[in-house]
Amino acid sequence: MLFKKRNTKCGILRQEDEGKKIVLNGWVASRRDLGGLIFIDLRDRWGLVQIVIEPENRPDLAEKAKDIRDEFVLWAEGTVRSRSNPNTKIPTGLIEVVVEDFDIINKSELPPFPVDDNIETGEETKLRYRYLDLRRPVMQNYFAIRNKTYQVCHRYFEKNDFIEVETPVLMKSTPEGARDFLVPSRISKGKFYALPQSPQIFKQILMLSGFERYMQIVKCFRDEDLRSDRQPEFTQIDVEMSFIDRDDILNLIEGLIIELWKEVLDYDVAAPFMRMSYDEAMNRFGSDKPDLRFGMEISDITDAVRSTEFKVFNDTIGEGGIIAAINVKGGSEMSRKNIDELTEFAKKYGAKGLAWMKFANGEVNSPIAKFLDEAVISQLKSQLNAQDGDLILISSDKKRRAQTILGALRLECAKRLGIMDAVKDKFSFHWVIDFPLFEYDEDNERWVAMHHPFTSPMDEDIALLDTDPGSVRAKAYDLVVNGAELGGGSIRIFNSDLQQKMFNKLGLGDKEIEDKFGFFIKALKYGTPPHGGIALGLDRIVMTLAGTDNIRDVIAFPKTTSGLSLMDGSPSFVVEEQLKELGLKLLSEK
Ligand code: AMO
Ligand code: AMP
Repeated sequence: MLFKKRNTKCGILRQEDEGKKIVLNGWVASRRDLGGLIFIDLRDRWGLVQIVIEPENRPDLAEKAKDIRDEFVLWAEGTVRSRSNPNTKIPTGLIEVVVEDFDIINKSELPPFPVDDNIETGEETKLRYRYLDLRRPVMQNYFAIRNKTYQVCHRYFEKNDFIEVETPVLMKSTPEGARDFLVPSRISKGKFYALPQSPQIFKQILMLSGFERYMQIVKCFRDEDLRSDRQPEFTQIDVEMSFIDRDDILNLIEGLIIELWKEVLDYDVAAPFMRMSYDEAMNRFGSDKPDLRFGMEISDITDAVRSTEFKVFNDTIGEGGIIAAINVKGGSEMSRKNIDELTEFAKKYGAKGLAWMKFANGEVNSPIAKFLDEAVISQLKSQLNAQDGDLILISSDKKRRAQTILGALRLECAKRLGIMDAVKDKFSFHWVIDFPLFEYDEDNERWVAMHHPFTSPMDEDIALLDTDPGSVRAKAYDLVVNGAELGGGSIRIFNSDLQQKMFNKLGLGDKEIEDKFGFFIKALKYGTPPHGGIALGLDRIVMTLAGTDNIRDVIAFPKTTSGLSLMDGSPSFVVEEQLKELGLKLLSEK
């Protein structure tokens, strides 16, 4: 007998199972030999339960149990009984199982870290031994949430008459913003497939193929710089609909979020979600994904300081910039050193300096005090609602940059002052709408699409495409929660001439458009319905539901920030023969 199969599960046993004779399979979470008794915590996916071997009654079993170590795999047969010393911290803590027979099914090497929720082990070791890391209950719970998310999603879209269609993973390279991952073709030597950054073009083509309502839970690949909320391969809940307008999409997605939060967390999300224009989000919060769980809004104080003699302010005003500020309530407790750190922090966002005013003990303390007379100070105090105990941070720069700097400082100060901690259990969902169609890429001196090139300009702004591209607004929207972008989408261009013009505006020549997107422009000529859609980052949704800020927690086999998979050692070199077959030759030696 290799092993005796379980007839129940460790984690589900309760007091009402008392007296039942059962068989369990699982892993040894811990073993305590108290001489008189041997206690083993046996773990399976459903939790852990204490099993007991009594040497007095069963010396044979006690002898066998001497070999047991953590993470060994066992089967055990026994009877459930009440515990004399209940453990109220675990769901099975009122009972234990007296072992009547057991065996070691398989041994384990000594694990490099305990398979336990509260460990300090570095992430690198955990990723190298991902199979052990995933055994930890906290990780198993993340994947239970992830699974629930798939199921709720599929049910929701099925109920709303969507059809799931798989789109290719090997496709034509049509960069959307990030760099493509390329796959060399063996049959067409010298040619490459690209892995999709998203199924954007395919889902639009499905609309003109008459599918009307498409969804797909789909892997996407982007060769971009990685961060704690970004992976090179990640999963989208991808959606596209025909004959709809923006609000149809927003309402549909609100319904999905409500259902997800209810089913996974039993949390009631309020709807409709607030809709805020990009312009308002930037002006008030200095971010296109503002965290609305707290205030600390940005004020434009240009008029209030217009009359001062401070050169920095005057130069900024002369160049068409703004002076803006936030009031960090209770921030006067920050030391000079803290403020210097904030200044360094601001510089990462392009700040040339950071002016500040501290209000404490009825006095104002500021490095620019000499430029500010009584009237200006009292004007600033009243505009920013500043009182004793507050700290005002001031940025003087081009409008969007000053706002971005203060937006970042707002979050940093909220973190430092414990505001983030205080709101950590709240969810604040909202839409950011009316994005600009383009943003200017200073480095390459050209316009780039803020969302992607398939996004429709607002009808009333189409005339500005030629005269003032920077002020054209897009029919684009982002879903934001607690300062994170969960998803983004748009109503699409469905006219081939406008699509061609859009590519032209983005600096693509006719030949390049034909080579890269000719097939798509041609397709648009065959009766394209008006359509639009959205893609939600599934990993980010699961992160939010699970309350983790590390995307690697919710992806079973993630990459490091350098794009490495430490467990299997990918990417890896390949043998010369493989390269030759693909018609490839490496430039550099290994
Ligand atoms: P977008 O590029 O905004 O839109 O992506 C949609 C959502 O996908 C998630 N996401 C990521 N998650 C993890 N790691 C990454 N590297 C990563 N990149 C993006 C984010 C983001 O909001 N085709 C369009 C959608 C559309 O217009 O319908 C698109 O892909 O949560
Ligand atoms: P300075 O006159 O350069 O010594 O600057 C006086 C104060 O103004 C210092 O606290 C600087 O950090 C701050 N400062 C300098 N440039 C800016 C700027 N662009 N925005 C806000 N404050 C600034």
